[in-house]
Amino acid sequence: MSNAYYAPGDQRAAKVNALFARIARRYDFLNDLQSFGLHRLWKRRVVRLAQIKSGDRALDLCCGTGDISFALAARGAEVTGLDFSEPMLEVARQRSTQQAAVRTPHFIQGDAQQLPFPDASFEIVTVGYGLRNLASWQRGLDEMLRLAKPGARLLVLDFGKPANPLWSSLYFTHLAIATPLLGKIFCGNAAAYAYVLESLKNYPAQEGVAARMRELKLADVRVINLLGGAMAINYAQKPA
Ligand SMILES: C[S@@+](CC[C@H](N)C(=O)[O-])C[C@H]1O[C@@H](n2cnc3c(N)ncnc32)[C@H](O)[C@@H]1O
Repeated sequence: MSNAYYAPGDQRAAKVNALFARIARRYDFLNDLQSFGLHRLWKRRVVRLAQIKSGDRALDLCCGTGDISFALAARGAEVTGLDFSEPMLEVARQRSTQQAAVRTPHFIQGDAQQLPFPDASFEIVTVGYGLRNLASWQRGLDEMLRLAKPGARLLVLDFGKPANPLWSSLYFTHLAIATPLLGKIFCGNAAAYAYVLESLKNYPAQEGVAARMRELKLADVRVINLLGGAMAINYAQKPA
């Protein structure tokens, strides 16, 4: 079944932008609800894997309302959070003003497929639930690699595809039924949440991303499966 917010090719970015403009205000609440708060633990895991050293520059792509950006900054990184959705960034900036933290991320609007930074600018490049949303996830990964300094850590957190067939079919059923239902009840929009499954079907998830990372000759390529592979973190380093 087609989805109002999913279109391959040229239309993709405009549809995704419309989706996040629509749900920005309810995004954090729905995230907590849909994941029972677990997304916070997964994001903390991303930040631990980033092995932040004092003074590291970190770029958090598709930062949305800023969860990963804030967590990286709290651990001492100098963080730029980038997203193309102004309504999502507005929430992130509002959260910044409510923080007493010494370091707060710098939030900017931009396209993850065409990043406004010179090569080799960052020690850490993260993307949480973002790569799957790009018109070309390969292009996004290429950009992450371009901006990474030698030795930099690249981290991708996203929905996964479980290897176990029984778990996979239960999980996909959940995404097909429960996720849009909760979106409809709490956000007044089932299609925005049905989009998760549609986009996941068109994304190679953890194993495809890892394969591409190996093709790109990245070092220490790892897949960290969470919840039996329903979520996953891809980790790799740019060769020194
Ligand atoms: C599911 S949210 C993830 C937000 C945050 N990283 C998190 O984990 O909670 C996906 C974000 O990707 C952003 N996004 C999608 N395509 C993008 C692009 N081409 N360039 C920049 N941001 C993009 C959306 O605006 C949205 O804020």
